[in-house]
Amino acid sequence: MPRQVSPIRWENGEVSILDQRLLPWRVHYIKCKNYRQVANAIRYMAIRGAPAIGIAAAMGIALGIAKLRSTKGLEERFNKICQAIIDTRPTAQNLFWAVSRMRQVFYAHKNRPLPELKGLLIKEAKDILDEDITTNKEIGKNGKALIKPNMTVLTHCNAGALATGGYGTALGIIRAAWEAGVRFRVMASETRPYLQGARLTCWELSQEGIPVTLITDSTAGYLMSRGRIDLVIVGADRIAANGDTANKIGTYSLAVLAKESSIPFYVAAPFSTIDLGLPSGKYIPIEERSGKEVLYIGKRSIAPEGINALYLAFDITPHRYITGIVTEKGIIRAPYKENIKVFGGSKW
Ligand code: MRU
Repeated sequence: MPRQVSPIRWENGEVSILDQRLLPWRVHYIKCKNYRQVANAIRYMAIRGAPAIGIAAAMGIALGIAKLRSTKGLEERFNKICQAIIDTRPTAQNLFWAVSRMRQVFYAHKNRPLPELKGLLIKEAKDILDEDITTNKEIGKNGKALIKPNMTVLTHCNAGALATGGYGTALGIIRAAWEAGVRFRVMASETRPYLQGARLTCWELSQEGIPVTLITDSTAGYLMSRGRIDLVIVGADRIAANGDTANKIGTYSLAVLAKESSIPFYVAAPFSTIDLGLPSGKYIPIEERSGKEVLYIGKRSIAPEGINALYLAFDITPHRYITGIVTEKGIIRAPYKENIKVFGGSKW
């Protein structure tokens, strides 16, 4: 199995997406031949994780235009493709950020010959992928000193190579510390119902020989109270201008529990996840997925037939619970509203 996991690639005029629903049992790339297939891969979670969703969005748009044979109704078709991508999932800011980058390239060059425009959009999508990997490595560099020898670090969901262009944000910090020779343990919470922690984080870390122990989501509080967790690092789907952070459902509970036990709680994310347009977390749209996804683990039903189930995919952690936000530009600490601005905010 490859050491450096690559969740998405532009390959021979197609978008290859590693189907994360099949991990850790099967490594299979979906070959998307049109933008609708890319949109479906995002919507149905073949690719997930905020930065990876952004990259897929950009590649989907590039693919949509690459398949056009003429410039007839070009602008209308471009906007239709963008809308189909936007409609896939509502929470991850990176999706909207990436669409905005693609829009800028399109509007700056839409009158150029079609082959040239196609090339420019493909280049922009590939740049978004490459930049994301560089950004993750910077996040790793900026955050690795947080992890000291013999610590136990808790992470939730998957904010690793699979959730990004490669390397990861929260797991990027973990990787960077490990590469620097620090030895420690990771606890991964399973992350019901999609099991990103169990299936993806445990898969990624075990491939690299980083010791990881899987716990059920409800175990973390007790471990914290017994002094068995030293540090929490999670990713983010969207960060409001005041530092309030949307991340996988369950993150908020972990943050409150960490505060109760005086355990540092860090968020790791690129600036492309920060939405300066939203003053606080209460404005972040929270995705509600089908209750059916709670009623089954894989194909196995786990509740009586006909029962209602509610699946909110994310929650909001108020900034007061966050010790710091590790970005590619450095670690942002309270007061977040002021300090996010000092760091320069997102370009888009
Ligand atoms: O529903 P998902 O799997 O897309 O949710 C992913 C998360 O919540 C991650 O923690 C977040 O996107 C950060 S990924 C670097």
